[in-house]
Amino acid sequence: MDQAVAYAREQDGRFLAELIEFLRIPSVSTAPERGGDVARAAAWIAGHLERLGFRSRVEPTDLHPIVRADWLGAPGRPTVLCYGHYDVQPPDPLDLWNSPPFEPTVEQGALYARGASDDKGQLFTHVKAVEAILRTAGSLPVNVKFLLEGEEEIGSPSLATYVPRHRRALAADAALVSDGALFAPGLPTLTTGLRGLLYAEIEVSGARCDLHSGQYGGAAPNALGALAQILAALKDRQGRIRIPGYYGRVRPPDDAERSAWARLPFDEVAFCNVIGVAVAPGEEAYPILERLWARPTLDVHGIAGGFAGIGMKTVIPSRATAKVSMRLVPDQRPERIFKQLERFVRRQAPPGVRVEVRHLASTPPVVVSPDAPAVRAAARSLEAVFGVPPVYTRSGGSIPVVSAFDRSLKISTVMMGFGLPDDNLHAPNEKFALVNFRQGIEAAIRFFHEFGG
Ligand code: BES
Ligand code: MN
Ligand code: MN
Repeated sequence: MDQAVAYAREQDGRFLAELIEFLRIPSVSTAPERGGDVARAAAWIAGHLERLGFRSRVEPTDLHPIVRADWLGAPGRPTVLCYGHYDVQPPDPLDLWNSPPFEPTVEQGALYARGASDDKGQLFTHVKAVEAILRTAGSLPVNVKFLLEGEEEIGSPSLATYVPRHRRALAADAALVSDGALFAPGLPTLTTGLRGLLYAEIEVSGARCDLHSGQYGGAAPNALGALAQILAALKDRQGRIRIPGYYGRVRPPDDAERSAWARLPFDEVAFCNVIGVAVAPGEEAYPILERLWARPTLDVHGIAGGFAGIGMKTVIPSRATAKVSMRLVPDQRPERIFKQLERFVRRQAPPGVRVEVRHLASTPPVVVSPDAPAVRAAARSLEAVFGVPPVYTRSGGSIPVVSAFDRSLKISTVMMGFGLPDDNLHAPNEKFALVNFRQGIEAAIRFFHEFGG
């Protein structure tokens, strides 16, 4: 193991150069015109694993390919399922990047590129960890199966059916996911829960077509106004969601978890400074970390309709749409919440308009026990790398496949992320600190040994 760690340190420059090559491929999963690039990224990483001695295949789906690569040369030893996603978020707004998003640039100890932290850089830590062990010891202390997808950023629609249909091929003793962040720089962190997500689109239609607001205003339905009323009705001024039954199945964190969160180095003023606001709005009765990790939310992402160009146009829009999503917590069920949302939205619709609520994606929340053997092994590995034991946090974000690992494969997932809270995920100037890339590789090397026994 020490040899593998030493090898990783020696090969550091080449590892970085390879990651840069991977990041050059603009594998934006939501952009139809990028389909070829997403496929190219899949082929790139599958070929890379093949050359390391894995049996790799690129499996087509209705959308973007799934990459599977196995090394099963440790019979009798446990099997680790390493998951990551090679798709990335769109890079826009482009003008806010200091260097082009698909021309990776190293500056002040960090690699800047779309996907550097989320998730190409982090999934590559697993790949380089197996390389370091194979090149020094000749074999791995565990069996390793890679499952890499190109649809995570759009809700993993293909994997949702793929996992239950490939239970045997994916069978493992634990999953390893590095697609998250340390709670603070230098503080090793294991994530024990993810929020779920329900993403929907609300469409309001009014008159047959747009109307002159002088000719018809006062006696015609305004689709955009109606949509605004509906959206405004969803939450009260205290940030509480007004959908009946919405909080019915919310399971509060237990006392041990609550007190552990209270001990984390968290400063509300610093938090406000990071996001650039004077106060953090939301449910005042709950501490911020609990709001972020264990309370459900509702956010409006975008509203379209009417006239928003330069100048003016006196028009009554006949159609308007909004994208909204809700982060869900145990034990909320996305299907049920969607029905509640639909009913509530329809009831709020003012006279003269029709409302449609479309379901775009959903994924259930998930929690993992910190006592699972794989999570304990991960804790020992992190302590060896960082010199201090890890903290246990949840994450407010979602990774759809983790609940499928729990439900379909019946395995625990080690969520060991190496990003930082200010990595600018999904935003301009996404970065991954080089020190985190190295620590991620070393932690994975140690984890495979710890879990291998
Ligand atoms: N890696 C993120 C999730 C994440 C973010 C975990 C921050 C931990 C800390 C992931 O790539 C992501 O963005 N997921 C989407 C999923 C959605 C499209 C279903 C999300 O959370 O919005
Ligand atoms: Mn991710
Ligand atoms: Mn993401």
